[in-house]
Amino acid sequence: MGIVLGIESSCDETAAALVDSERRILAQRIASQDEAHRPYGGVVPEIAARAHAERLAPLIESTLADAGLGLDDVDAIAATAGPGLIGGVMVGLVTAKALAMAAGKPLIAINHLEGHALSPRLADAALAYPYLLLLVSGGHCQVLLVEGVGRYSRLATTIDDALGEAFDKTAKILGLGYPGGPAVERLAREGNPRAVPLPRPLVGSGEPHFSFAGLKSAVLRAHQAGTHSAADLAASFQQAAIDCVVDRTRIALSGVTGQGITALVVAGGVAANQAMRGALETLAGEFGLPFIAPPLVLCTDNAAMIAWAGVERLGQSDPLDFAARPRWPLDPDALPVRGAGVKA
Ligand code: KG4
Ligand code: ZN
Repeated sequence: MGIVLGIESSCDETAAALVDSERRILAQRIASQDEAHRPYGGVVPEIAARAHAERLAPLIESTLADAGLGLDDVDAIAATAGPGLIGGVMVGLVTAKALAMAAGKPLIAINHLEGHALSPRLADAALAYPYLLLLVSGGHCQVLLVEGVGRYSRLATTIDDALGEAFDKTAKILGLGYPGGPAVERLAREGNPRAVPLPRPLVGSGEPHFSFAGLKSAVLRAHQAGTHSAADLAASFQQAAIDCVVDRTRIALSGVTGQGITALVVAGGVAANQAMRGALETLAGEFGLPFIAPPLVLCTDNAAMIAWAGVERLGQSDPLDFAARPRWPLDPDALPVRGAGVKA
């Protein structure tokens, strides 16, 4: 048995959680900064870092109090060490280092993407390796073959925007505010997904990569033309995005048949999208695979997934001079994709 304190501060959620090796979430607190960033229509790194610095220590204190535990009771302190907005990551990592040093506990530096990648195993004890993971968040859109802790092969990535980014930009175009994903999904329920003809970039391509920049531009043009309602635009955008995700993931799944894949798994903030979950469940069925999606609170950024990644890594420890990493690919050996910009 082990208990890990997890800390997450890589974007705009300040979060702490206590998780044990029996998959129990003993306590978890998340302080969202949505209000602080809303006037700017996106996350402002400087505001985020300051908010993490103000909120994190009291948040950890309350999380420990919720579980009736002290630092002495935990077996390790796990913190997101990247990738993400560097100011925020540094706040969380430095706090974790200080606590680890003061309490004499091991520090475990966690890759935020690994937190997302392993989160389905926190929710589902039966989920065994290897599984095919669709990781869709505000900063990433990847398909990974997950063969074990630290064993990730990237099979596909986006050559331009991440999927969450496309949802957020669409929300901005439609004046739905920030954060965009949930707002687009809500409005899409009132619209006709076939009303606006929109492109499905890369659909039909033999490699499973993603592209969403052209879709977002098409939404902008259609909005400027003024001929469709915001609800029809939201619904048509969401349908086009889902069609892309399903087609691309189908190619990835076809490429790993015969490799003993146990499930199709989705994680990351966009995995909260119910329409996409439904489409992916149908796709998994085509391949005779179970479809696994963590509960919504484990999809968007949270510290329970970081604590859980720490549980999976219990016994390891990282040096107190471990540097925060603004970029940190899960699969450093993945080849750059032709046509890709700066995103990993
Ligand atoms: O994983 P996450 O919380 O943070 C990152 O690591 O990026 O993902 C946030 C992203 C945002 O782009 C947000 O708009 C999107 O996930 N998102 C959604 C939904 N809920 C959150 N996108 C579509 N539908 C949703 N219901
Ligand atoms: Zn995330």
